[in-house]
Amino acid sequence: MVIKEISNRRSVREYLEKEVTDKDIIEIIKAGQFAPTARNNRAVEFVVVENQKTKDEIFEIVGQEFVKQAKVLIIPVTDTTKTNCSMQDLAVASENMLLQATALGVGSVWKNLKSEFNEAEQIKKLLGIPEQYTAINIIPLGYPKEKPVAHDDKDFDAGKIHREKW
Ligand SMILES: Cc1cc2nc3c(=O)[nH]c(=O)nc-3n(C[C@H](O)[C@H](O)[C@H](O)COP(=O)(O)O)c2cc1C
Repeated sequence: MVIKEISNRRSVREYLEKEVTDKDIIEIIKAGQFAPTARNNRAVEFVVVENQKTKDEIFEIVGQEFVKQAKVLIIPVTDTTKTNCSMQDLAVASENMLLQATALGVGSVWKNLKSEFNEAEQIKKLLGIPEQYTAINIIPLGYPKEKPVAHDDKDFDAGKIHREKW
């Protein structure tokens, strides 16, 4: 892989006690902001949560221990009045953030928000996010407890390529 972060990015769910620097947080958000958006709507915004009580409250909504253990939670949100591709806009921003976190040695994982349990709506209410915004996931940040194992060619499946026709 030319871009080593694509191979090195792994889901990290256990973090060190060490704080994530604000410089790293901003670099990760910048990567999210530089992602493409439909018709260049640039409506994605980022809610950063570091307060432990708030992280605990988010954990109560979405589960998974790493949500309260992560040093930082970032919730990318977008304004549904400015884009008709909110899911796509948020997904590409998220992947950019995961790759930038990897480059900085910061661990992360895509924590999905389940629509069947209205998790995004509950988080919006908790954090005072305006009604017209939507969220699909949480990006937790923390320095990894263990070095993640990179992807390599054994994870590559040439059988999933269909040339010209299926
Ligand atoms: C759309 C999506 C939803 C995911 N939701 C969760 C989740 O809620 N909790 C979790 O621990 N991991 C979640 N993951 C992470 C995947 O489990 C992980 O990416 C997958 O197992 C591959 O491992 P890797 O990220 O180390 O390559 C999600 C990933 C994606 C792309």
